[in-house]
Amino acid sequence: MPTNTEPPARRTHGGAYWMPFTANRDFYRAPRTIVAGSQHHYVDADGRRLYDLFSGLWTSGLGHCHPRIVEAIQKQASTLDCNMTFQMTNDRAPLLAQKLVALAPTGFTNCFFTNSGSESVDTALKIALAYHRAKGDAARTRLIGRERGYHGVNFGGISVGGIAPNRRAFSGNLLPSVAHLCHTYSLERNAFSKGQPTWGDHLADDLNRLVALHGAETIAAVIVEPVAGSTGILPPPKGYLERLRANCTQHGILLIFDEVITGFGRVGAPFAADRFAVSPDIITAAKGLTNGAVPMGAVLVKDFIYDAFMHADDHSIELFHGYTYSGHPLAAAAGLATLEVYEAEATFRVARELEKTFEDGIHLLADHPLVQDVRNFGLMGGIDLKARQDAPGARGLQAHKKLFHDERLVVRNSMDTLQFAPFLNAQPEHLHAAFAAVRRTLDLLN
Ligand SMILES: Cc1ncc(COP(=O)(O)O)c(C=O)c1O
Repeated sequence: MPTNTEPPARRTHGGAYWMPFTANRDFYRAPRTIVAGSQHHYVDADGRRLYDLFSGLWTSGLGHCHPRIVEAIQKQASTLDCNMTFQMTNDRAPLLAQKLVALAPTGFTNCFFTNSGSESVDTALKIALAYHRAKGDAARTRLIGRERGYHGVNFGGISVGGIAPNRRAFSGNLLPSVAHLCHTYSLERNAFSKGQPTWGDHLADDLNRLVALHGAETIAAVIVEPVAGSTGILPPPKGYLERLRANCTQHGILLIFDEVITGFGRVGAPFAADRFAVSPDIITAAKGLTNGAVPMGAVLVKDFIYDAFMHADDHSIELFHGYTYSGHPLAAAAGLATLEVYEAEATFRVARELEKTFEDGIHLLADHPLVQDVRNFGLMGGIDLKARQDAPGARGLQAHKKLFHDERLVVRNSMDTLQFAPFLNAQPEHLHAAFAAVRRTLDLLN
């Protein structure tokens, strides 16, 4: 058994900070450390300026350290830093909830605050289960996710999620009553689609297979990302979400859109539900809610869901769920300032207008010999690199590192997919320069 008198072995494995979703041992050989951010650029520990082509981690569409958001946080920190959030609140959270439901699609009337996307997902799943129980439909306990879906890293989220490595190590203890729809990706049918692929709306009928197998009366909810993000940007086939909505309605199943990425302008509208004109019953959000400046998530629900909980005695707690930091004043102040900036700068319209430039730019890479597929929707884009036979994922990581170190460009890789999430207010010339840098880098990969 190793003891703490053996530091050298520990050193070779990296630093004290165990980094999330990171190849730690590789990372600590040449760390990529950010010390400052301003608008569209980072500054790293060596004082170099880097262009951020991932908006934080899908979070910061307005750019880093937006002065109005910074000011709101500073003011709030010196006014009220924290409060008890159970049976009490502050003056910011209810206001933010009110503004969020005003921004949300028609029918959404209530908002529950969390601190992250993962917590939003688990909260939404719990609300769905408790809703059916409150209605006397306690047999509806099954949750349906989708292959290749990403819904964060908590137990509910990885159970309905469909990215194999995120589940494998924990597979003995995932939620028991879960099933998965098939994913919508087809390289044969849809390679190099611009925006929504035309093939695949019928895949929404996979829900009917699960209904036939398990019985609608056992199914509580379906959760999907309207545009699957973390798996590598899979826009929904045309007509797919509409068909999924209709199938859920037919069987009395709640439809949850996980909009942790797609909310707040990422697809050129407040929510993907608006963009696709498909109305779910529950929306999960996080990331862009505060422009990433303070962690916060939210679950938006329609009136009939909230109302179903409001039948017990007035003094009873209706939902036994909540986090110490639900509706934290600093996060709520950041959220309020962020929503104000979105409105003042017409950010969602600006983002929509940038889509064509982004689409043209990313598809210029389609002819590169290492590129297997290119996909995009809104300001979300992915490029699949051909994997190295001997080492799946190695080429994607090599690209990420070369772009950071040699091109001063921040791009995310998940395995061999390079992902792009430009700022909602990015400048076209920056995007052109960034894609030219990506091509230069691809030319040098082995
Ligand atoms: C669709 C979706 N849901 C949930 C999450 C989890 O969010 P967090 O990392 O804030 O817990 C993410 C994160 O990327 C996401 O993309």
